[in-house]
Amino acid sequence: MNKRILLIVGGGIAAYKCLELVRRARDKGIAVRCVMSEAAQQFVTPLSFASLSGDTVYTDLFSLNEESEIGHIRLSREADLIVVAPATADLMAKLANGMADSLAGAVLLATDKPVLMAPAMNPRMWAHPATRRNATQLAADGVHFVGPNSGEMAESNEAGEGRMAEPAEILAAIEGLLSGDKPLAGKRMIVTSGPTHEPIDPVRYLANRSSGKQGHAIAAAAAAAGAEVTLVSGPVSIADPAGVHVIHVETAREMLAAVEECLPADIAVCAAAVADWRPDSEGAQKMKKDGDKAAPGLTLVENPDILLTLARHHTLRPTLVVGFAAETETVIDHAKAKLARKGCDLIVANDVSHETGIMGGDRNRVHLVSSQGVESWDDMDKAAVAARLVSRISELLSTSHKSD
Ligand SMILES: Cc1cc2nc3c(=O)[nH]c(=O)nc-3n(C[C@H](O)[C@H](O)[C@H](O)COP(=O)(O)O)c2cc1C
Repeated sequence: MNKRILLIVGGGIAAYKCLELVRRARDKGIAVRCVMSEAAQQFVTPLSFASLSGDTVYTDLFSLNEESEIGHIRLSREADLIVVAPATADLMAKLANGMADSLAGAVLLATDKPVLMAPAMNPRMWAHPATRRNATQLAADGVHFVGPNSGEMAESNEAGEGRMAEPAEILAAIEGLLSGDKPLAGKRMIVTSGPTHEPIDPVRYLANRSSGKQGHAIAAAAAAAGAEVTLVSGPVSIADPAGVHVIHVETAREMLAAVEECLPADIAVCAAAVADWRPDSEGAQKMKKDGDKAAPGLTLVENPDILLTLARHHTLRPTLVVGFAAETETVIDHAKAKLARKGCDLIVANDVSHETGIMGGDRNRVHLVSSQGVESWDDMDKAAVAARLVSRISELLSTSHKSD
């Protein structure tokens, strides 16, 4: 790949991981030139990046040497892509607000090239309303994002969303953007994600342990592949993915109504763990424990079947309908039965038994079940499952168009 990136390294502990990113990018034939913020130089030396990139490292907006060598405007435009990793809360805030008081800020503002950010920060910094605002603004301005992931932070006893994406994931996003490959450009896609909450009374509900991580990752990967994505999400505690239209719902019935509103669509991926049943009525007041009366019984009624509704839609069936099967036993057999029963094109099956840690976790091991057979993928990060599934979806879509 005969391309060049400008890597802006921000001041976070994850800066050291970018040394590996530089090495891996060069292995793929991508030339890398680095800009380091002043804070970044507290974590890794410019000499390390210079050695691995084989190029000068630029650090100072007002350096006569650096400015006469290339100039910050040329620096910002000679690359095919600008990558900010780690993208600190500070660098995100600077670009979101158009601040150019550093070499990194000036380069980001002066560029006419796409920008990819790999945020890395403490989970509370990432969740802060100011950072949320900045991320939303940057996405609206066309900045691409990879990560952050959930997991252990470098600080002790802290875990959550804010870990920088791994170098391999950042490189995959770089390659996607450099190849200009947008296999789902012009396609409308609906993704459902998360659990549903089915009310018992004003304070209680039936729910399940779905976190929405897999569905949200699919929505993000599809948007990166050029699709116009609407994500219909049940109640989750993770952030909305950038570049995706999100509709928040609570119940299965609300989810179905939102999905139907989004039709027509080319693709539907039903990754939500929709409750199969709901209480037959919602108490108007909180149910009370009443002396020695027996515990109240719950009568359940079946919820609407969103996957089946889409797959068997008479007039507006999406070209490709993908369902998920969360099973705890005989996973593949159940998935085959589900494929036939629902009439969808593909089932992504996973084993959500407690010991697998898949439900709520960051990794997944899936089996793709279709009329062509079963394909089992290795255990991988949910973002990697999402990227691979999206590329499979674009292949299936192009073959289904050819056979039309
Ligand atoms: C030990 C240490 C670790 C830090 N890690 C991060 C981080 O991961 N993400 C972040 O946004 N800021 C982090 N900061 C704060 C930034 O370094 C600080 O906001 C700095 O001004 C960022 O400058 P820059 O955005 O120009 O690189 C850290 C600071 C220290 C002292």
